Amino acid sequence: MAFVQAPGRVNLIGEHTDYNGGWVLPMALDLDCLVGFRRREDGAVRVTSLDAPGEIAPWVDALVTELAAEGRAPAGLDAVVASTVPMGAGLASSGALSIALGLALCRVAGVELEPAVLAEACRRAEERATGVPCGIMDQVVGVLGAPREPLLVDCRDVTVERVSLPAHAVVVVADSGVRRSLSDGRYAERREACEAAAARLGVGTLRDASAADVADDPVARHVVSENERVHRMVAALRSGDVEAAGAVLTEGHRSLRDDFAVSTPELDALAERLCSLGAYGARLTGAGFGGCVVALGGPELSERVSDDPSVVSVQ
Ligand code: GLA
Repeated sequence: MAFVQAPGRVNLIGEHTDYNGGWVLPMALDLDCLVGFRRREDGAVRVTSLDAPGEIAPWVDALVTELAAEGRAPAGLDAVVASTVPMGAGLASSGALSIALGLALCRVAGVELEPAVLAEACRRAEERATGVPCGIMDQVVGVLGAPREPLLVDCRDVTVERVSLPAHAVVVVADSGVRRSLSDGRYAERREACEAAAARLGVGTLRDASAADVADDPVARHVVSENERVHRMVAALRSGDVEAAGAVLTEGHRSLRDDFAVSTPELDALAERLCSLGAYGARLTGAGFGGCVVALGGPELSERVSDDPSVVSVQ
């Protein structure tokens, strides 16, 4: 049996910007989806999931369809999928699943796809399997991500630059315990609102709108200001200024809460709690509506968080 794996991610900044042609800064977690597989000569594709046995079939069908669209018919395989990425927690369990299974299907077929092509095929498969019109961020980090190496992704053309975390920076990912599903329509509604705003302004995507263009539209205002925060965060991390990077997180949380309206009282309270424990800043991570908070701080933050029973760290 052979094995492939793909990580979940925490997004440091750049939320709801990927499907607007903007920038994101996600980082792989030490949590992965693992697939054990072997080729079947009869061409059948048999996949068992240890985490959600009843939900794997649409993923398999969607991946087979989308990978076949890349030119080579997938070969048969027997596979078992198991993941340590919690589901519905905003840490891209779906992205990890689609990339790991996509890699296994490519491997048995002897196909090697460019990272951006594999990521896009797996993104389309996720949309096909779940109906959620997701962006490309989670799949890119699933293929290329490594822990403590944030990726600056320009989602318009899927180009990637690696950004190192300063050695003294501590990243905490804490779980609010609130689970959400993106297939309830709220994610799609936000995406539609962004596309409508871009159409009103006569730009292809909100990446090309200015702050002045969107001053009176909270949803679009979040996207334009968030793109600017990604660049500020990258500059802060590159100059080793973790405090300035933390301040960007807190600004990002306010924008997601007040302008984009995807926070919850639990996420707000957890972000505040982490700041009161000494984080330089904190914000909800992932699509929102529940899930996790990411915080940045100095070396003392880890201990303070692990001593506080009200905060559940993910890793
Ligand atoms: C989900 C989607 C991503 C991205 C985020 C929000 O994780 O899968 O493509 O849009 O939400 O930033």
